[in-house]
Amino acid sequence: MKKEKSIFVCSECGYQTIKLLGRCPNCGKWNTFIEEFYTGLEKFEEEIMPPKKLTEIEFEDTPRIKTKIEEFDRVLGGGVVKKSYILVAGEPGVGKSTLLLTVAGNLAKNGYKVLYISGEESQNQIKMRAKRLGIESDGIYLLTSSEINSIKNGLEKINPDFVIVDSIQTVYNPEIPTIPGSVTQVRENANFFMKYTKTNDCSTFLVGHITKEGVVAGPKILEHIVDSVIYFEGDIRTNLRILRCFKNRFGSTNEIGVFSMEENGLKEIPDASSIFIQDIERNIPGRTIFPTIEGTRTILVEIEGLVTPTYYGIPRRTVSGVDYNRVSLIIAVLEKKLKFNFNTFDVYVNVGGGLKVNEVGCDLAVAVSCVSSLKDIPPIKKSVIIGEIGLTGEIRGVENINLRLKECARLGIERAIIPEKNKKDVSVSQIEIIPVKFLNEAIKISLSI
Ligand SMILES: Nc1ncnc2c1ncn2[C@@H]1O[C@H](COP(=O)(O)OP(=O)(O)OP(=O)(O)O)[C@@H](O)[C@H]1O
Ligand SMILES: [Mg+2]
Ligand SMILES: [Zn+2]
Repeated sequence: MKKEKSIFVCSECGYQTIKLLGRCPNCGKWNTFIEEFYTGLEKFEEEIMPPKKLTEIEFEDTPRIKTKIEEFDRVLGGGVVKKSYILVAGEPGVGKSTLLLTVAGNLAKNGYKVLYISGEESQNQIKMRAKRLGIESDGIYLLTSSEINSIKNGLEKINPDFVIVDSIQTVYNPEIPTIPGSVTQVRENANFFMKYTKTNDCSTFLVGHITKEGVVAGPKILEHIVDSVIYFEGDIRTNLRILRCFKNRFGSTNEIGVFSMEENGLKEIPDASSIFIQDIERNIPGRTIFPTIEGTRTILVEIEGLVTPTYYGIPRRTVSGVDYNRVSLIIAVLEKKLKFNFNTFDVYVNVGGGLKVNEVGCDLAVAVSCVSSLKDIPPIKKSVIIGEIGLTGEIRGVENINLRLKECARLGIERAIIPEKNKKDVSVSQIEIIPVKFLNEAIKISLSI
């Protein structure tokens, strides 16, 4: 064996150097270098391919295979694309193995051959989970090894339609003298599965662990290698689980999948609003309802605001589920334009049920929740509040107003405060529409003050 050499690898982009650097010259990030030990670099044999005219390339439609887990299929853009390479990332214990074993079960039931490779659990553990989930299918093959040569052997023997690797951080290539989970191991093994996927008629799912900071452990380039990155999220103290697409080469990234983690497995929740909204009948100070758009669906969520006197020095702003900077901006506009005083109050903003609302259309709902809590006055009954707030206090329009209002009507909402700009587009008649132009109007109407 050659003498081991230590090299430093950027955990963000995979850039290698023999000297430890503070800043990566390739990606510009600071303190991203990790020391690894090497005997030599692996040589790749690349196939030589001449360039081809785009017009000469024959178009093959990419067929999708349904896993028949609708929440999962929708997030992928309508099913799994053949020869696609998908990373499913999530925190420990969130249910990644459960999800993918369920996917394996469904695919096998539909006649596909699935190879489930686990480097994390014993055959008995996986069998026990399968029993609990009610998965009994001849088409699932289990390989509890993380060593790349035994994996290659397994792939050759089974020639599967689907490969599940649980997890990419445990896969180990003995020819690369760094520990499993290290940047080089993860990158090289991920590259191996990519090549395998693209040259064989199969699709591959990688399970990826995420770090405390919420990013996939290992090199950032893992996310570039795969076709799609899906995050499986949820507070493991609750049953709610959300699948969210972060990158998708074969579809949009807007869709989410909602599940509940039950004793006998993941239960799909097609009617997502029902779990995010506790009670429409009661109106509570500090709570507004906002219909947010997630892909093709509308989900009603509760925006909660809590405003309490500050006891120690600087007022705190604690935000979860909406953008922190947006909340600061909203508070600044409320102070400047409406003369509300928040500077001796702590402000907490939260989205009920742990969902993240990634749109500025919820600004007005956030503003009303905060003022509602500050004044201890509940918003008008059975109402939703929609609109983006401009710096001058004007209310900007939102997209998909009818899609939102339709879901509101279905769930028994009776009135909607909406941006004046959206009024002309409204075609939903079951709800009383209250158009507003400015923030002060919106606050007055929604809190009847
Ligand atoms: N006997 C059981 N009854 C009900 N729920 C269970 C049972 N065993 C496990 N679970 C649920 O399954 C979850 C673990 O799921 P799973 O092992 O699929 O997660 P994971 O993301 O693969 O975890 P890891 O990071 O450890 O691989 C637990 O948090 C728990 O909610
Ligand atoms: Mg697992
Ligand atoms: Zn870098």
